[in-house]
Amino acid sequence: MQVTMIVNDVEVTREIEGRLLLVHFLRDTLSLTGTHWGCDTSNCGTCVVWLDGEPVKSCTVLAAMADGHEVRTVEGLAKGGELDPIQEGFMQCHGLQCGFCTPGMMMTCRALLDKNPDPTDAEIREAISGQICRCTGYSTIVRSVRWASVHEAAAAVNQ
Ligand code: FES
Ligand code: FES
Repeated sequence: MQVTMIVNDVEVTREIEGRLLLVHFLRDTLSLTGTHWGCDTSNCGTCVVWLDGEPVKSCTVLAAMADGHEVRTVEGLAKGGELDPIQEGFMQCHGLQCGFCTPGMMMTCRALLDKNPDPTDAEIREAISGQICRCTGYSTIVRSVRWASVHEAAAAVNQ
């Protein structure tokens, strides 16, 4: 079957098998390997991307279900060569160690800040509760999101 979707602002059309998962479509068909695949049980959340602006675990979505829709991956976070504040926050606050969980974490946390620019630590933890970090732990991830929140607020005041 043929699918057409917008991925990181670019329209793509490909022939695929109907059983192909979105995570594999992104990684293997489009070579967008920033989206990781970390389990067979829909538990780890390292595969999170946005489907029409909502974070989804791309291992639970068929590529065919994204036909006609808009997908954004971690490769589509930076704009005009500038890191998104959430990426900057992870860098500044050591929100990653091996980095395996990081793309999914950043996609979820960016979506959180878009809806709730000043989340509490509890709200950040709730947002990432479906995702697993196997090494760095969650405190620095929460700190990274707080960093992005504070710096975005400051940038808005200075505009
Ligand atoms: S790969 Fe683990 S939840 Fe999707
Ligand atoms: S930084 Fe290694 S799994 Fe999260």
